[in-house]
Order: sequence, then structure tokens, then C-alpha cells
Amino acid sequence: MEKGCRFGTHRVIEPIGVLPQAAVKIDNNMNIRSNEVLIDVITLNIDSASFTQIKNICDSDKEKMEVMILSIVSERGKMQNPVTGSGGMLIGKVKEIGNDFPDKELQVGDIIATLVSLSLTPLCINKITDIKLDNDQVDIVGEAILFESGIYAKVPDDLPNKLALAALDVAGAPAQTDKLVKNGDTVAIIGAAGKSGVLCCYQAKKKVGATGKVIGIVPFEEQVEYLKDLNVTDEIIVADATKAVDVYEKVMELNKEQVDVTINVVNVPNCEMSAILITKDTGVVYFFSMATSFTKAALGAEGVGSDVTMIVGNGYTKNHAELTLNLIRESSKIRKLFEDIYG
Ligand SMILES: NC(=O)c1ccc[n+]([C@@H]2O[C@H](COP(=O)([O-])OP(=O)(O)OC[C@H]3O[C@@H](n4cnc5c(N)ncnc54)[C@H](OP(=O)(O)O)[C@@H]3O)[C@@H](O)[C@H]2O)c1
Repeated sequence: MEKGCRFGTHRVIEPIGVLPQAAVKIDNNMNIRSNEVLIDVITLNIDSASFTQIKNICDSDKEKMEVMILSIVSERGKMQNPVTGSGGMLIGKVKEIGNDFPDKELQVGDIIATLVSLSLTPLCINKITDIKLDNDQVDIVGEAILFESGIYAKVPDDLPNKLALAALDVAGAPAQTDKLVKNGDTVAIIGAAGKSGVLCCYQAKKKVGATGKVIGIVPFEEQVEYLKDLNVTDEIIVADATKAVDVYEKVMELNKEQVDVTINVVNVPNCEMSAILITKDTGVVYFFSMATSFTKAALGAEGVGSDVTMIVGNGYTKNHAELTLNLIRESSKIRKLFEDIYG
């Protein structure tokens, strides 16, 4: 069995020279190299920005969505939405492990969640068996490949598989929140009622302590009670994050000054400026949203004379999986919420 590049470049078909994430087409032949792992896929957790884009363009018609997902995978060899560029994650059962795969703890038969994006994961779908319109998950019969550099987590026994998959998909967000937020900070979470939003609010609330404040920003009034019940915010603002000046005015009215840290976890485009406007010059904006445009953020901040520090939402940070799964174990309310949606 031949050994491949540890980053998977041996599977890049077009354009040659880039890594698999940036490729428009990769080889999804399921014969593994000696340093790859073959996975029998159970469920794809499509990234929310991607799933929302596909759902909207297909008018929530499952048959049209199925055709679209299958055509993306057959064209690209991976589930990478050509509009958002994003992917998602998967859970599956390990089917074959090449002799040169370095992690000797992994066993055939283990149920794992890949912690690398579907936008770089060779994937072959034989059949889509279900599309869950309300939670972005797609059950399939198919296979995928994990490269030597690909990280994964064994799905824990104490949490349902699909719940763990959903949480691990956004594990970077609460873990980065943990790193960025300090005691006494005022933190704004845009998209606070979403999956990563709730996890980030919870983690931020733990970090700000008694002297800090967590402000959740949600688009609809109905989400206020829901978020209040979870007890993860100090204040809640109802505002459309695509209307930057409105968001800014509402935050200023409530808080009298801009915030120290803003976490953007929305799933729609054009929300860069609301995050920038509400954050102090000395503050930090963490753009976790996959609908974020570097151009809009960089030129938009310059355009309003903001010196804010902007962080690209790397989906990975050390111990992100453990922190996020522990958070679900710790908060019975968040666990119940995740069980209701994904359990
Ligand atoms: N950086 C990474 O590695 C990484 C990894 C995974 C996911 N992501 C991205 O992270 C983001 C959040 O993911 P998620 O799974 O938490 O998504 P989610 O559960 O769908 O949450 C998104 C939230 O944003 C809200 N929202 C939508 N439009 C809004 C607007 N105009 N103003 C204010 N809020 C708005 C949504 O409200 P409604 O539900 O009412 O529309 C929802 O509550 C997505 O963009 C996803 O693609 C990034």
C-alpha cells in the first residue's frame, strides 16, 4: 500500500499545488493509502451557513436538496458548498486503518467524529437516507477518508452520537470564547440563540464573573424567552445583525459603551459590520461564522476607523472537543436543549 502526503495533497486533482480544502476537486476513490483511515459514514452534520444556503435555494424541498448535495459531492469529491466554501463534519464507524496511520489507539469498529471539515474530506455518497431540515444533519450510506493530519474524537458513550456530532461541529466556538474572554469583560454574542451561540454564551458567562456581562443578540422576539430560560445571558437584544447601525444603537442604548469582546456566530452573510461597530477599539471580534467575508470585515473596519482586533474563527483550538462535551455534561439545560434537537 502506497503512503500518501500527510496533509492529503496526493488526492488533489485541481488545482495542483493547493491543499485539499482549497481544491475544487479531490480524488474520492475509497482505496486507502497506508497513512489514511476509511470511515463508514453514518451522518453528515452540514455546516449551518452551507445548509441554510442549500435549504433556501431549494425552498426546503428535500428532493431538490438531495440532488444538490449529491451533485456537489460528485463534482468535488467532498461536501464543500461552492457558495459558502464551508463543509461540516461527520460521524461514522472506522472500517479500515492503514499501517502507517500514526495513532495506534484507533481501532476498526470505533465510532468517531471527524474534527476536520467536510470541505477537505474525501467523501463518497451511495445514498442519502434522510435530510433533517431542522438540525442540518444528513444520514447517508457512504464512505469517507481521514488523512494522517486529520484529527478526530471518539464519540463518548455517555452522549447520543448525533448530539455529540452537533456539539463537536461547533466545538471551536466555546473553546475560543474561553480563551478570549476575561473576568469583568462585557461580551456580545451575535446569533446567541443558535447552537454555537448558546454554548458561547454559557462559556462567556462562566468567564466574565460577577462584574462582567453577557449580551445575547437574537433576530426574533420569540428567541428572548427561550434564551432567558437557559440562563446564559445577562441582557438580550432583539436585532437583525445585517442592520449594523441598528445593532450599534441598541447596544449603546443598553450598555452606554461598546463591548470588550464580540463573538459572531450567525449563519447568514453581511453581519461583519454589526460586530465591528459594537466592539471597542481595544477589543476583539471573533468571527466564527462561515458567512464572514474577509474583505467586508477588513475594509469595513478601516472604513469606520476601527482599530479592533479581528480573529478568524479557526474551528480548532487545543482541547476544544473536551471543553465542549464537558460543557454539555455540566449544563443540564443545554444538554436537554441539544437532546430535544439532536437526541
Ligand atoms: N469556524 C468554524 O470552524 C465553524 C465550524 C462550524 C460552524 N461554523 C459556522 O458558525 C456559524 C454558527 O453555526 P451554528 O451551527 O451555531 O448555527 P445555528 O445554530 O444555525 O445558529 C445561527 C444563529 O444565527 C441567527 N441569525 C440568523 N440570521 C441572523 C441575523 N440577521 N441577525 C442575528 N442573528 C441571526 C440564527 O437565528 P434563526 O435560527 O432564527 O435564523 C441562529 O440562531 C455558522 O455560520 C456556521 O457555518 C463555523
